[in-house]
Amino acid sequence: MSDAIRVPYNYLPMQFADYSEIAAGWDALIKTADFTLGAFMEKFESEFADYIGSPHCLATNNGTDALILALKALGIGPGDEVITPCNSFYATTGAIVAVGATPIFCDVDERFQADVDDMDRRVTPRTKALLPVHWAGASPDMVKVMDLAQSHGLLVLEDACMAIGGKVHGQSPGTFGDMGAFSMHPLKTLNVMGDGGMVITKDDDGMRWMLQYRNHGMVDRDHIDIWGVNMRLQPLQAVVASHMLTSLDERLARRREIQRTYDEHLGALGPSIVVPPRADWNPETVSLYMFQADNRDDLIAHLVANGVEAKVHYPVPLHLQKPGHELGYGPGDMPGAEAQADRLVTLPAHEYLTELQVELAMGVVEDALARR
Ligand SMILES: Cc1ncc(COP(=O)(O)O)c(C=O)c1O
Repeated sequence: MSDAIRVPYNYLPMQFADYSEIAAGWDALIKTADFTLGAFMEKFESEFADYIGSPHCLATNNGTDALILALKALGIGPGDEVITPCNSFYATTGAIVAVGATPIFCDVDERFQADVDDMDRRVTPRTKALLPVHWAGASPDMVKVMDLAQSHGLLVLEDACMAIGGKVHGQSPGTFGDMGAFSMHPLKTLNVMGDGGMVITKDDDGMRWMLQYRNHGMVDRDHIDIWGVNMRLQPLQAVVASHMLTSLDERLARRREIQRTYDEHLGALGPSIVVPPRADWNPETVSLYMFQADNRDDLIAHLVANGVEAKVHYPVPLHLQKPGHELGYGPGDMPGAEAQADRLVTLPAHEYLTELQVELAMGVVEDALARR
């Protein structure tokens, strides 16, 4: 037993151990003093649009604002219902509430993704949009989500905050619906040394509106068209983003390698460990490597005591949080997500782990099972 962390969850010091290229980019930016919007940000926006495969893309100050901006651009507000999975991060539902709309939760499947049949059951005459989440860096079947949306005439905003670099049926997450939102928070695949976000859309008018709203509604220095706010990404971070984008695919390849190793090994440990099924149409970003385990709390305690920084994402689903109860939800409403919440384990799976660390993490899981 040891208190020392041997398999760390936090990769940030390693990610930026050498930041000389970023510093060179900052040097160039600082010489221009272009600190609000400007050429460095536009350069990154165009690189991101190319990478994702979207005609339009704009950078925001975080993923939550990316969601809020997109919801507003889609005209979603008071009186509208938006269906979204109950196992996401708070921000997805927080954004729906922030624009005055009503979140309607749906349950999730064995891959931890929105259960599209359950989404269908929750459609009412007030439903305006679906807000599927590419949870943990895996994706719901967006073809099914889009079929459902089309059959009811609904808008679709994809929360692809964890999924920069993923693929769904050969396409980037975020490109199926009317709009897609991404996060560049330090724990996301494209880390900008702080908060950052992106919105993508195919809609020219929606893009024009978002560009204005993001920047106080200004058409020029002396005139506004609409009341807007400041949701701009910092150019210093756009420089980091441009740099990190160049290594993204390589870093994700390593994560997927670790995912395969964990899947093979943990999947063979017996019925008390359940690894989610993988879909060949969905190369994931492995933002979170999650599986289900019996006696989860004991397993986490054993992992942590042995230096493996395991976590839970998350022990309480959104509908059972205080404001979820206030929306009228209670225990038993989302049986799939509730059963998972008691069994979820997240293991470190970032690209800086060595083979030895991956083996160590798997060995500690095995050891915990042997002690039962
Ligand atoms: C699924 C999901 N949606 C939204 C967000 C919000 O992004 P941000 O932290 O950049 O505001 C996050 C991450 O934090 C997330 O994981």
